[in-house]
This record gives sequence, structure tokens and C-alpha cells, in this order.
Amino acid sequence: MTGRSKALVEVDDVHVNPAFRKDVLAGLAQEQKAVPARWLYDDEGSRLFEAITRLPEYYPTQAEIEILQRHGDAFRRLITPGAAIIEFGSGSSLKTPLLLRCIEPAAYVPLDISGDFLRASAAALASDFPGLPVYPVEADFMKRVHLPAEVDHLPKLGFFPGSTIGNMIAPTAVDLLRLMRKTLGPEAQFLIGMDLIKDPSVLHAAYEDAQGVTAEFNLNLARRINRELGGTIPLDKLHHVARWNDTWARIEMHLDATEAIEFEVSGCRFSMAEGETIHTENSHKFDRRSQFMLLLAGGWTPLERWLDSQGRFSLILAQATRPRAAP
Ligand code: AVJ
Repeated sequence: MTGRSKALVEVDDVHVNPAFRKDVLAGLAQEQKAVPARWLYDDEGSRLFEAITRLPEYYPTQAEIEILQRHGDAFRRLITPGAAIIEFGSGSSLKTPLLLRCIEPAAYVPLDISGDFLRASAAALASDFPGLPVYPVEADFMKRVHLPAEVDHLPKLGFFPGSTIGNMIAPTAVDLLRLMRKTLGPEAQFLIGMDLIKDPSVLHAAYEDAQGVTAEFNLNLARRINRELGGTIPLDKLHHVARWNDTWARIEMHLDATEAIEFEVSGCRFSMAEGETIHTENSHKFDRRSQFMLLLAGGWTPLERWLDSQGRFSLILAQATRPRAAP
């Protein structure tokens, strides 16, 4: 704890998020160092991710917006009228108005873990859509969520854009899809964005952008560890890399040590050899069959699937699978 007084450390410790400390200490002790991707999204991380979505190389946002803009007629035809839209991880609710405009839902329930973000964007959206009841819920969608009683009697449409599902390895993704099905009920529909497998050079550019915004986003995690967990990670000796892992069909973000380093986190010592990495995020990519397999395993039967005009990204409408006898 070089250069810091004991008292200051204790003051810091009062604000420590125990789940964050536990994940970081366990993850850094692994053979392949890794920190769960959810810790990338503190206020600064959320701000940096928003900046990523505006990068020319980051095609998923543009492509998904194009799909939402082009298929309003199909959404209107296929989505149950008068539904409550439940958006998982609504963030700044950027894409939501595109959907709200075409299907005229009975209520909107944005759900996000970041309360400040959630309330600000819910208020903005409510003023853009007078007459639409908006019920923000501050919650972690990885856990069981209780929907506001006001939407109990309404048909439900789950909305999970952005290919956030791609952040999870298969068993976690299946658990989450099943949990969402439970939250939304047996008659629910689900509209989910899923990114597609494509030329690795396009993926690489999207996750290692020329302006270095994604690098800042990734390094912000190490900065957060230093700030919140009394860390001494030398930030100037870690550099952001995005790697295509063809076996698991995913882009991985890593923090790569440019030389051998030693540091402390929360009083525990760690070292990294030159070229050793901390794995910070997975972004799985899919093809039609792997998408359908994942959705079916999660209790959702695909109804319709749309791609953007360049075939980069997909949006899938699914229906809660009805339990029935089948061979
Ligand atoms: C928010 C998980 C969908 O995987 O594309 C973007 C996060 N990380 N650039 C993605 C991210 C680096 C993003 N998701």
C-alpha cells in the first residue's frame, strides 16, 4: 500500500463493495486472470460504453437501430397489442422510442442496475410519450425481478437489445433466459438482439477502435480496482487487446501486461509476466442455428428473425415455449 496512510485505506474500505472485492480477488488468483464483465459498468464505464455505441467501427448499435426502424409493420403485426414492454438493462433507453412508436404498448418498464441513469432516462422518455405509463425498476436482471403490480394483468413483451446476452457463457445465458421467462410469464413474447459471426477483422475493429475509446473502457476497470479496492495496478503497463476466439465464437477483451509487473489489490499481492493478460469481457457471436438453440434451451420459441441490410446483426422475436408433449 505504498504512499498511503492506514487511515486513508480504512476510509476507502468503508466504501468497498464486497461483491466487487470478492470477484476481483478470486479472478486475479486464477491461472487465467479474469474479472466478471459487469464490473466494467460503473458510471464512467457506462459513459464510455455510450461513447463506444457512437463509434463508426461499432456496427451493432447502428445495425440494430436500422432493424428497429425498418420493421415496424412486422412488429405491429406480430406483437400482442396493449403489451407492457419490459426492457432488461435499459441504460439510456436509446432504442426504446423506435419500438414504442410502432407498437403502442400499454406500459413501459425500464429495468436497470444503475438507478441514476434509469431515473433520468425514464423521465425523459415519459415526457416524450405522454399517456404512456412508465414504471422504472432499479434491479439487477441477473436476479429474480418483481414487476410492478400495475402491469400484472397486461400481456408482456421482454425487450433485450444490444446483444447483451452475448456477454454470457452458454450456461449463464440459458439460466438468464429461463429466469426472464419466469419473470414475464407463460404467455410472454421476447424481442432480443443478437450479434452475428462475421469476418474477424470487422469484429476486431469494432472492439479495438482507432480512437481508443474501447481501450479506455477496458482500462477503466483497472482504474476502478485501484480506486475502490486500494489497488496499485500500473495502468501504463497494461494495454487493451481484443481477440477473436474462434473455438467459442467470441470476441474477448483482455488487459495485456506489456512487461512483467507486480501489484497489490486490497492487501493481496499479484504478479503478471510480460504478455500475461486479465480477461475482462466476452462478446459471443451467433449464427441462426446457435441462436435458435440458445433460445430454445432458455424456454423461448423463435417466431421471426430480422437482419440489417448488411447482414451484420439480428433481432429475434420469440414466444414463451408452451409445455407440451413432444418426442
Ligand atoms: C454491451 C455487451 C453488448 O459486447 O458489444 C462493447 C460491450 N464491449 N465494446 C458488446 C462492449 C466492448 C457490448 N455489450
